[in-house]
Amino acid sequence: MYQTGEKVRFTLFGKSHAECVGGILEGLPKGLRVDESLIAEDMALRKPTPGIGTPRAEDDKAEIVQGLTDGITNGDPILIIIRNKDTDGSKYLKFSHTPRPGHADLPALIKFPEHDIRGGGQFSGRLTAAIVAAGSIAKQFNSRFGIETSAHTDSIGSILDMKTRDFRASESSKSFPTRACDNELNEAMFNEILNAGKDNDSIGGTIECITIGLPIGFGGIWFDALDAEIAKAMFGIPACKGIEFGKGFELAKMRGSESNDLFYYDNGIKVKSNNMGGILGGMSDGAPVVFRTVFKATPSIGKEQDTVNLDSIKNDKVIVTGRHDPCIVPRAAIVVESMTALVIADQIQKGL
Ligand SMILES: Cc1cc2nc3c(=O)[nH]c(=O)nc-3n(C[C@H](O)[C@H](O)[C@H](O)COP(=O)(O)O)c2cc1C
Repeated sequence: MYQTGEKVRFTLFGKSHAECVGGILEGLPKGLRVDESLIAEDMALRKPTPGIGTPRAEDDKAEIVQGLTDGITNGDPILIIIRNKDTDGSKYLKFSHTPRPGHADLPALIKFPEHDIRGGGQFSGRLTAAIVAAGSIAKQFNSRFGIETSAHTDSIGSILDMKTRDFRASESSKSFPTRACDNELNEAMFNEILNAGKDNDSIGGTIECITIGLPIGFGGIWFDALDAEIAKAMFGIPACKGIEFGKGFELAKMRGSESNDLFYYDNGIKVKSNNMGGILGGMSDGAPVVFRTVFKATPSIGKEQDTVNLDSIKNDKVIVTGRHDPCIVPRAAIVVESMTALVIADQIQKGL
């Protein structure tokens, strides 16, 4: 079991081809009404997209086994399970001898000799289903404080969203399969993914996440800093390889006179730009908290790749023939949103 958060603690468990994956969410107050239809909506956003997603057929129903009475939190830990039904693991068995480049197989097999290779075991993106269910409950808690989070696809391969998006635009991505913010981008990104898949290959991209409603000063400092906690949460998601807040790495090229977000007063203290992504000293400066994460291309691809045979300790080749998404990004957007909501719920309950 893998745990994150202090006051709002989330524990993740399960394996790709075990009976179920799931999570335990603790630390939310008693008396919170949980709308399970909103959880179902979020779970649907993580499902594979027809035409560009894995053919693994899971209905992804999050069952809340404990922690709610008549839809209201009763103070017990909230136990969520998602049953694994489509668990044909036969295509994975060869990876216990010939680990897939880019996946966790090699270190997992060396470190855990009993590792269940089917579907990647506990390293499978399948476990993110439980993150989404828990994050959906966290979002419902956060919205009591007027705090809302949304994530969308910012780029896939060479297709980049060049516009500055706000929370509302990010929410509108939920009607597009690639999670792009408009139809034109959606079509271009869809084709980019199709083309990678046709080549027996995969492609990566970036996800932007926007949180609104944080009051100035919200968030911890130093190791509890809002950006530090979000970054840690993001790197807990499989295949996430980077994060930048606001202008991020572009800040390296800017002078202070260009990058500083200037303050002004208009019915409250505000900033004229958002180069910092809404965070100063680890705390909210009142602007939306905006960050982008990069997700690498799906490691499992149908092209022949070099590997080492762990039985013969000789060079070998491997081709992945199982069921995989040519692009993780559209499905990972709701995972990014959910992890962010869990961090914010934790910071609310810590009184930061
Ligand atoms: C939602 C989601 C779905 C994923 N689906 C797959 C997949 O179908 N095939 C695959 O090889 N990797 C998939 N991954 C990525 C692997 O789980 C990940 O690359 C692997 O565990 C190694 O971890 P690392 O990339 O963080 O080093 C997925 C990740 C996420 C977040």
